[in-house]
Amino acid sequence: MVKAKIAVLVSGGGTNLQALIDAQKSGIIKSGEITLVVSNNENAYALERAKNNNIETAYIPSKASDFETQLIKLLKDKNIDIIVLAGFMKILSENFTRTFENRIINVHPSLIPSFCGKGYYGLRVHEEALKYGVKVTGATVHFVNEIPDGGSIILQKAVYIEDGDTPEVLQKRVMEQAEWIILPEACELVSQKYIKE
Ligand code: GAR
Repeated sequence: MVKAKIAVLVSGGGTNLQALIDAQKSGIIKSGEITLVVSNNENAYALERAKNNNIETAYIPSKASDFETQLIKLLKDKNIDIIVLAGFMKILSENFTRTFENRIINVHPSLIPSFCGKGYYGLRVHEEALKYGVKVTGATVHFVNEIPDGGSIILQKAVYIEDGDTPEVLQKRVMEQAEWIILPEACELVSQKYIKE
């Protein structure tokens, strides 16, 4: 069996990348292997996490006029089967999402279709959930298409909001109770489809 080759795209701290690395070590992810981590931010701590685990890294500046051309070439050169967006803060074009149809997954820190779409990323999502006053939020892993946060849902997990929550406290709880669990699980499910015998 040849495992599916996974590339993880990151922009920041990379706690979801860490959850994927840990899940690979513990055997939760067994049908895929993280072979590349790409960042659009040179200073992303996620790059250090990859290096600490001997995973190849690449940096493509967000501002590069041919950002997506460079990224597509890299992913094809490395024979990547699955692309995981793990805190990747850049919207990808329809050309990109079609090039890798059914091969890109994203983790979003709310229960889609609430608090998602253009402009909803990172802490902002939790600020809006608290402002609205919902009592339950959570995380969603979904396939990525041309509509921001609009692709079909793979897994979701609910998380309760508690009295006195701040966006930061809620973000941490959603990560711990939902994102770090369902992202590796979804990654394994999708990897199973791209194993080569
Ligand atoms: C995570 O909460 C992730 O769900 C969110 O950014 C954070 C990244 O943290 N992503 C989005 O909002 C995408 N729309 P991390 O770098 O520690 O994984």
